[in-house]
Amino acid sequence: MSTSTRSIFLGVGGYLPERIVTNHDLAEWVDTNDEWIRERTGIRARHFAAEGEFTSDLAVRAAAEALENSGIAAEQIDLIILATTTPDNTFPATASLVQQRLGAFRSAAFDIQAVCAGFIFGLATADAFLRVHRARHALVIGAETFSRILDWKDRTTCVLFGDGAGAVVLEAREGEGGLGDHGILSARLHTDGRHYDKLYVDGGPSTTGTSGFVRMVGREVFRQAVARTVESIETLLQENQLAITDIDHFILHQANERILKAAMEKLGAPFEKAVLTISEQGNTSAASVPLAMRHAHQEGILKRGDLIVLEALGGGLSWGTLLARW
Ligand code: UT7
Repeated sequence: MSTSTRSIFLGVGGYLPERIVTNHDLAEWVDTNDEWIRERTGIRARHFAAEGEFTSDLAVRAAAEALENSGIAAEQIDLIILATTTPDNTFPATASLVQQRLGAFRSAAFDIQAVCAGFIFGLATADAFLRVHRARHALVIGAETFSRILDWKDRTTCVLFGDGAGAVVLEAREGEGGLGDHGILSARLHTDGRHYDKLYVDGGPSTTGTSGFVRMVGREVFRQAVARTVESIETLLQENQLAITDIDHFILHQANERILKAAMEKLGAPFEKAVLTISEQGNTSAASVPLAMRHAHQEGILKRGDLIVLEALGGGLSWGTLLARW
């Protein structure tokens, strides 16, 4: 069997802002209630960034923890990819600020924009660099301050999201070339621009000159999320000649617990294999998958050698699926 360069997960980190906002808190300024939010989404609380606390601040905290857990110094990082929909400024990339604050001056640093799927897009991109020896160590971050783009008068969206950041450090290592290798084994990225207007922000530098607010056709996005999640995971497993039962953990985007339940049921996988953070974090967009990885790692759910599937879908619509051995 021919050998193959693999992107190994060296460590994971995360950060959630201090301020916790429960459904009851939200109901004080939004026409909603705890029961509706819990029953329709599974969300109980979310974290919101403090005034003056930006996406870059969250990203730096998550990245620093990931570096520490990896035993890697910032100067060893060759590549920083920051997945975000809520950059500090329109330009330059928030990744530049993160690079500066970490002191990772050897690295090329850029942002990637695929909304909730951004972290998977970032991982797949970093993996492509590592596999062709364009980088040895990559830092991939998902960081968002979605609270800044929520319309508090739109109860169908503003109750769903939270702020946070998660990060991983990847290292290029030689593997055997088979599914027994550690690290990223396979990835698929998709976009269907026909659904551009199902989930978007109604502003931007080229249109209104403002950053705008989240708009969503919730039911249609729900339907697409379940269908695309199931279809893309089944395809990825078929391509790798794996069965659903081979997967130890499903680390899926935390948008709605009902989406997760429906997808796991259609896949024929026990719900216990889905990692869950939604109840205490809400939907943190690009940060949700790395924060779920961190949770699974911290809780001892994720063990060395486990086979995992990562998946996320969001605005675009864009979605990504990734198979890895931890
Ligand atoms: O990360 C990106 C991906 N995003 C997603 O995956 C989100 C996908 N969509 C969803 O999760 C769901 O569609 C929502 C949670 C957004 C909405 O749930 P739903 O079961 O589709 O509810 P709905 O929009 O059909 O609304 C049902 C009712 C409506 O009242 P009427 O017209 O039946 O009287 C709404 O006005 O619930 C009402 N409602 C609320 N009530 C209290 C909607 N939002 C709220 C609220 N609090 N926050």
